[in-house]
Amino acid sequence: MNCAKNAPAAPQPLPNLSLEDKNTFGLPAIADLAYEITSPDQLPELIASILKAGVVWRVLGGGSNVVLPSLLAGTTLIMGISGKEIIDSNGQFTLVEVGAGENWHDFVAWTLEQNLPGLENLALIPGTVGAAPIQNIGAYGADVAEYIDSIEAFDSKNQAFVTLSKEDCCFAYRDSYFKQNPERYIVTKVAFKIPKAWKPRLTYADLAKQFSDNPLVSALEVFHAVCKVRSAKLPDPKVIGNAGSFFQNPIVDIAQYENLLAQHPNLVSYPDATGTRKLAAGWLIDQCGLKGYRSGSAGVYEKQALVLVNHGGATANDILELANIIQGKVRERFGVELQIEPNIL
Ligand code: EPU
Repeated sequence: MNCAKNAPAAPQPLPNLSLEDKNTFGLPAIADLAYEITSPDQLPELIASILKAGVVWRVLGGGSNVVLPSLLAGTTLIMGISGKEIIDSNGQFTLVEVGAGENWHDFVAWTLEQNLPGLENLALIPGTVGAAPIQNIGAYGADVAEYIDSIEAFDSKNQAFVTLSKEDCCFAYRDSYFKQNPERYIVTKVAFKIPKAWKPRLTYADLAKQFSDNPLVSALEVFHAVCKVRSAKLPDPKVIGNAGSFFQNPIVDIAQYENLLAQHPNLVSYPDATGTRKLAAGWLIDQCGLKGYRSGSAGVYEKQALVLVNHGGATANDILELANIIQGKVRERFGVELQIEPNIL
């Protein structure tokens, strides 16, 4: 990837760029000034000029985990670095390098075409490859962190490229070192280490149900099953604007969990680290009777209460007002604080 000997052309300034079709919520938003980044080599000069001007900046990937305001001041960098390459393969694993601007789902499909099973449980997650490690995307019992070898990023603080090992990235549930240090790193390339040994992961009830009588299931079958479950439960952003799960599944201590369980015997929860328990936020919201609830043009998706949707014409304020109502009801009923998952820009 990026083997061009000549320096890439400087990115073109895109003033007053509409981002309405660049965020999956479909919120109306205008970027004061945007640039599409197609090569890491464009970054040092551009970042230096942004820092010199002292303007705010941010990176936009697939726009699938953001709530955009109507006007984005400063500079918006649209990540468009492409490229997928197998760079090493031995008896144990295959190492693959991928540009941050590649579409995540297309990359997962490509790994299966290359006969590299492992990422199939993460199919159909919207967004880009570069955004995947930032919130450590996960689904159906798998987290992307498990497959990451290292990450190449431009460090705006030291104005230099860095390579962070998996350990440096401090991955946790929907969290990473990048998320903890916003406005510092621009992920340019992700190296994945995909083990040769493969076993289907069917712990998630929806998958277990489908394959209980088929222990020889292939990665491609799991991939198709995940796509089917997601399509049935989660709205297609091309049809109805949304940013996937709007809240994190809250983690509570065991004492609070036992208290809640005594009061709500049907409480849905998952084991977590020692001393804590993860609650299903969708269940908590659903129990408050909010599935399908609407506040103006913003709503709670009727098939999955953890997903907020734009019924058409919603703004960031509408979404945040609805989020506030939901947080209030869940707090009142369960004494649990819901954390918003997407980045509010
Ligand atoms: N539930 C309800 N009502 C609802 C929604 C869920 O009762 O309206 C119950 C379900 O019956 C289930 C439990 O809550 O027992 C959990 O729901 P689900 O299995 O749909 O998964 P989730 O915890 O809501 C998480 C991820 C999703 C991921 C799925 C599948 C988070 C915040 N969300 O959702 O990720 O696809 O598991 O693994 O961890 C995303 O991050 O954007 C996302 C979609």
